[in-house]
Amino acid sequence: MRSWIHVARGRHVRQARVGLGELREEHISRQGFFGPVAMVYRTDGPNEIVRVEGTLHPRRLVDTARVEPSDQNDPRGVPEVLLANADVSIAISRRTRAMPFAYRNTDGDLLYFVHEGSGTFATEFGRLAYEPGDYVLIPKGVTFALNPTSDACRLLVLESPAPLALTQHVQVGRHMPVDPTVLTLPELCDYGFAWRDEWELRVKHGGAYSSIFYRNNPLQTVGWKGDLFPYKLNIRDIIPISSDRIHLPPSAWATFEATGFMVVTFVPQMAVSDLNAEELPSYHRNVDYDESVFVHDDASGARRLGMLSHTPQGILHGADEATRAAFQKRRTPDMRRTLTGVSVDTERPLIPTAVCERLTE
Ligand SMILES: [Fe+2]
Repeated sequence: MRSWIHVARGRHVRQARVGLGELREEHISRQGFFGPVAMVYRTDGPNEIVRVEGTLHPRRLVDTARVEPSDQNDPRGVPEVLLANADVSIAISRRTRAMPFAYRNTDGDLLYFVHEGSGTFATEFGRLAYEPGDYVLIPKGVTFALNPTSDACRLLVLESPAPLALTQHVQVGRHMPVDPTVLTLPELCDYGFAWRDEWELRVKHGGAYSSIFYRNNPLQTVGWKGDLFPYKLNIRDIIPISSDRIHLPPSAWATFEATGFMVVTFVPQMAVSDLNAEELPSYHRNVDYDESVFVHDDASGARRLGMLSHTPQGILHGADEATRAAFQKRRTPDMRRTLTGVSVDTERPLIPTAVCERLTE
């Protein structure tokens, strides 16, 4: 049941995030940004960390350019998982050579995000070319082979045991943020495979790998129908829901969702033009969600590309006072946001792997 008892004590603003003046507003929010909420007001910055004792990283930062998955040099290698829980794993693939087998993941849906590189997914539904900025969704159990054609390759790979679906933003109609007809489907083709005695299908099952050898190539089909198929979506085709009067919570930019997590896409868009309203994300404690953000691009040059950050649920975050003050000095009403990024927001805590721990800055 939606909570309905709202009260206020002491100094506060009439409209959250607007007209704060000397006040600092911290957003404490349950169930992402949909549940019970408190705005707490102070006159001092709440996120000036002096030091930390214990194993907690208030904000973990990993440069994915330093991740060396086994698929970087070995065509039979696999992506390197950095963060995982029971609902989703977040991995990096740097595959440079084609899969020498047909591949099928029976552990869940796969959602690729292409940070750099190009190539094709050869699927049993046809061929799907990919380029930077593409999400490629391969449903659980669908057979494919990944064939990079570029030297550089860096892919974010999410695996979800529960089905991943495009998020419906019911209040804005059916043609934004994603008009379904912008999705690109595979093109049926004759792969022209030369005859072989047997064809390998490599299967991921329960985290293990087995190979089944078939007389005929499992990728070659002549047609299909149904509502289960791989597809891709380029982030330039995502229309951001935005406001020039208030900073929207990131749930406005959710692109995909599955049990236990959602995938949020940050795309360049107008900033808040009302100089009396907050433009930077508010100080907040996202109490029931871990946040993991991957930086794909930033036209302003302010962010390091390819960085993956992780903020555990319940931990206060948001730019510190010095960053806010510097931003406010150069802020103008016609500013635009320049970040392109992908955030994976999870209900269960994400557990960093040993590689993630080793690479944490
Ligand atoms: Fe956040």
